Amino acid sequence: DKSKLGQPVGTTLDRFIKNKQDEFSFATGELSQILRDIGLAGKIINREISRAGLVDLGGSVGEQNIQGENQQKLDVIANIRFKRALRNGGEVCAIVSEEDDGIIDLNNPHGRYIVAIDPLDGSSNIDVNVSIGTIFSVYRRLSPVGGPALREDVLQKGDDQVAAGYLLYGSSTMLVYSTGHGVNGFTYDPSLGEFFLSHPNMKTPTTGSIYSINEGPSQLFDDGVRQYIQHCKEQQLTARYIGSLVGDFHRNMLKGGIYIYPATPKAPNGKLRLLYECNALAYIIEQAGGKATNGKGTRILDLLPNELHQRTPFFIGSSEMMEMAESFNLATA
Ligand code: AHG
Ligand code: MN
Ligand code: MN
Ligand code: MN
Repeated sequence: DKSKLGQPVGTTLDRFIKNKQDEFSFATGELSQILRDIGLAGKIINREISRAGLVDLGGSVGEQNIQGENQQKLDVIANIRFKRALRNGGEVCAIVSEEDDGIIDLNNPHGRYIVAIDPLDGSSNIDVNVSIGTIFSVYRRLSPVGGPALREDVLQKGDDQVAAGYLLYGSSTMLVYSTGHGVNGFTYDPSLGEFFLSHPNMKTPTTGSIYSINEGPSQLFDDGVRQYIQHCKEQQLTARYIGSLVGDFHRNMLKGGIYIYPATPKAPNGKLRLLYECNALAYIIEQAGGKATNGKGTRILDLLPNELHQRTPFFIGSSEMMEMAESFNLATA
């Protein structure tokens, strides 16, 4: 509604939430605590990232994570920092993280929330100074307060998120989130240690001229995906892909565009993870007026997860570009 337009740019994250400019459907105190916890961890990661090259925090730890990926030192550090901040904040009882197997209990049995998190997205870009991010989803727990978190708490549909967003450690560090009443972006001022509202009520253009996909394996893509990419070339659209989902997503949301991570025979569900990458960005893009599907006509937010780290083919972006892409029968059902 128009009343939310023209928010006082420059208000801090805390004031924005407390002044009920964010109609969080539960106790705003709990939301502001969770976002403060995430913001705090984000400030710390932001500092670690900018110092990584100076204090030998680049590179890998020499072990693989549950995904079979070479864990980077900053993956591990970011994971520890977010778990510690969310545990100390007291509102979150358990998390699912890309970097951990299973449901991580935070010893807050009275916490009423669950967080799914990709602590550091775009890890392959850490050592080459390209933007990276953090992606998070927040759910209300379904199991009784006081007891342990259960699988039903963390395997909820994306539609049931109560908040979701991302941090982008780019030329400036931003926190972008939604609680279901629009999307707001905050820019971090390191000299003051505060996030300030810089992008109120974000909306994505209904169309755009950017398509983002790693075409390396395109020989393996479904015919429909290859035909759609060919269409983009015939339209002389702009190809932009930096290999950090958060960076590619944020640019496309602001300018209009489509991001595709399709299935291949080797990875029939693509690469991106539903719980802590796709659901959060699908929630954000729909709040901003865009669309997100699995390329087989199913809305990402309608997918009912059955595994913590399950992957899904991911098509997300401006509504008109998504409709055009879907007309190419993207994936054999
Ligand atoms: P993460 O670093 O959290 O594992 O995520 C990496 C993801 C995403 O950030 C990026 O868009 C994609 O992997 C890049 O994959 P390709 O290198 O296969 O293009
Ligand atoms: Mn990873
Ligand atoms: Mn990721
Ligand atoms: Mn990651």
